[in-house]
Amino acid sequence: MPQKELIKKKEISYDLPGRELKLCVVENIEALITDVNDPDKVPCWADIWPAAYGLARYLWEEVHFPPGARVLELGTGLGLPGIVCSLKGAQAVLSDFNPLALELAHENARRNGADVELLLEDWRTFACREKFDYLLAADILYEPRLNPFLGEIFCRNLKPGGKLFVSHPERRVTADFLEEWYNPRFFTQQKILREVELEGTLLPCYDIAIHILKFLPEKQAKRV
Ligand SMILES: C[S@@+](CC[C@H](N)C(=O)[O-])C[C@H]1O[C@@H](n2cnc3c(N)ncnc32)[C@H](O)[C@@H]1O
Repeated sequence: MPQKELIKKKEISYDLPGRELKLCVVENIEALITDVNDPDKVPCWADIWPAAYGLARYLWEEVHFPPGARVLELGTGLGLPGIVCSLKGAQAVLSDFNPLALELAHENARRNGADVELLLEDWRTFACREKFDYLLAADILYEPRLNPFLGEIFCRNLKPGGKLFVSHPERRVTADFLEEWYNPRFFTQQKILREVELEGTLLPCYDIAIHILKFLPEKQAKRV
């Protein structure tokens, strides 16, 4: 049976200060697991991860997008951080290599009155050449074989002066990648920690690290 027909959806509420979001997630994720040995087939897109909640809340509370700002969310899954950017006035592009993820992310955007674009792309063959004002990466740097492709996308698809937000639950693999990849000649970096509490889950409390990396314009980069 096609995966789409197996999916049972459930609606959850997520409260941001002054705004309640209605989001659909997959209730029966186990039913979508077809091959645990193939990382591409693990349906990690089907839930909203703590790092996405932490980043979404940070974006909602702290980031003010200039008119016309373009945001690309990589590995969007169910789309929460990108949707929040759209609700804050940015032009958000939600991207993933899984078409079902994009379908549900689109549904989540519509449920909350957010207007988003969708981009079906695999990091390993990423063909989009647009340079964005902001890139979002919520818990996507978890696979050492994929991380270098993301490192290339970060440099190629971010405008000079643009910002990259990376969030993760203090994953060692993410921290190690960022430490090796980060070059202070080209980026400034700030790291903040946010607590995320998720009711009704096995582990309700998470410390989410958010790295904010600003891609320095060329002239500034040479002076560093
Ligand atoms: C751990 S999930 C995170 C989902 C979402 N960012 C969140 O935090 O809720 C990783 C996401 O990356 C996507 N992904 C994994 N490998 C990918 C690849 N090679 N190209 C594009 N997207 C990929 C998955 O489909 C999934 O949506």
